[in-house]
Amino acid sequence: MSMQGQLLAATGSKGQVIERMNDQIASGAKSGTRPSRQINVVLRSHDSSSSGAAAHIADQEPLAAVKPLPPGDHYADIQKELDVMVGLDNVKSLVYEIYAMLQIAQMRSEAGLNGGAHVYHMIFKGNPGTGKTTIARIVAKLLQKMGVLSKGHLIEVERADLVGEYIGHTAQKTRDLVRKAVGGVLFVDEAYSLARGGEKDFGKEAIDTLVKAMEDMRNQFVLILAGYPAEIEHFLMTNPGLPSRFPIQIDFPDYTVDQLIQIAELMARDRDYSLLPQTVFKMRQHLMQEKHMSVFSFSNARYVRNMIEKSIRHQAVRLLSQYANSSPGKQELMAIRPEDVKLEMQSTSGGRRENGYT
Ligand SMILES: Nc1ncnc2c1ncn2[C@@H]1O[C@H](COP(=O)(O)OP(=O)(O)OP(=O)(O)O)[C@@H](O)[C@H]1O
Ligand SMILES: [Mg+2]
Repeated sequence: MSMQGQLLAATGSKGQVIERMNDQIASGAKSGTRPSRQINVVLRSHDSSSSGAAAHIADQEPLAAVKPLPPGDHYADIQKELDVMVGLDNVKSLVYEIYAMLQIAQMRSEAGLNGGAHVYHMIFKGNPGTGKTTIARIVAKLLQKMGVLSKGHLIEVERADLVGEYIGHTAQKTRDLVRKAVGGVLFVDEAYSLARGGEKDFGKEAIDTLVKAMEDMRNQFVLILAGYPAEIEHFLMTNPGLPSRFPIQIDFPDYTVDQLIQIAELMARDRDYSLLPQTVFKMRQHLMQEKHMSVFSFSNARYVRNMIEKSIRHQAVRLLSQYANSSPGKQELMAIRPEDVKLEMQSTSGGRRENGYT
């Protein structure tokens, strides 16, 4: 199945809960080489002492005792999925670190040494469309392959899925979602919005319930909180007990225009389309402008995906009108021409997902 195929989300009744079982298990392929560039990532082991927060985790045991692994190269499949992703070198390095750590822990256990289990709850900091959900799915799969998680599925939620309408309702909704995530990953997008309303808001009840679940069901699921970098920072600052519970923090940088173009070409290729050089030129000009104009709301690869999909629709309309009584032929069916890329500037009024191609 193509990466895009795997990423198509099954949308639940609330429109936000996305559940996906990772369907590709263990490949027999040999040898994954380590991503070449090593970039700083925050990876603190469970016993790292972050002053005031230490007390909160004193009684928190590691997430998982590493189970015996079946033979085979568990990373080859993961690496294949990471390799197709443009950029994200720091993220790729961290995923490899997690793999290496688990693999060595296994060998250490076998050698009678302390396996050194770790906590795998994570924070993903990045602007929209920087690959957070995609990487969360890959991480879920890696943890499943390495025996940390039994199922490796991803439940993606946001505030509306967790927060209820009356006292007690939020705890119940949140617990239900945690239960669904057992054996996999609970991915909370725009996590900072849970702290939006302050003490009296039900968002706080959701946070408290999640923290309790991390303790009560510590070996049973991994929690990933995601959101805009500045807002996540603020969220963590206003919840001093939280940072130490999330030893792995990953930054998802905005893509450069070159990377966005590479992503556009990849997405077109995946769909059996090709971008003519003039089309790439037009897209590049537009992306440069758009990135510059909407610094805080530009949705990176998601913007590109929407731009490609919209261009594909325009191409279909153009071809039907040009070739009313015949087939355009393979070449023309594939070619996205500059005139298919109809560009509207995204509003700069702060609208995040509503305007243009967001
Ligand atoms: N580095 C990349 N290479 C190729 N495609 C990518 C890359 N990053 C993201 N994409 C694609 O862009 C789209 C958006 O990515 P994704 O949903 O993972 O981003 P996100 O950070 O979760 O966004 P949001 O904040 O909006 O939830 C997906 O179709 C994904 O496949
Ligand atoms: Mg996402």
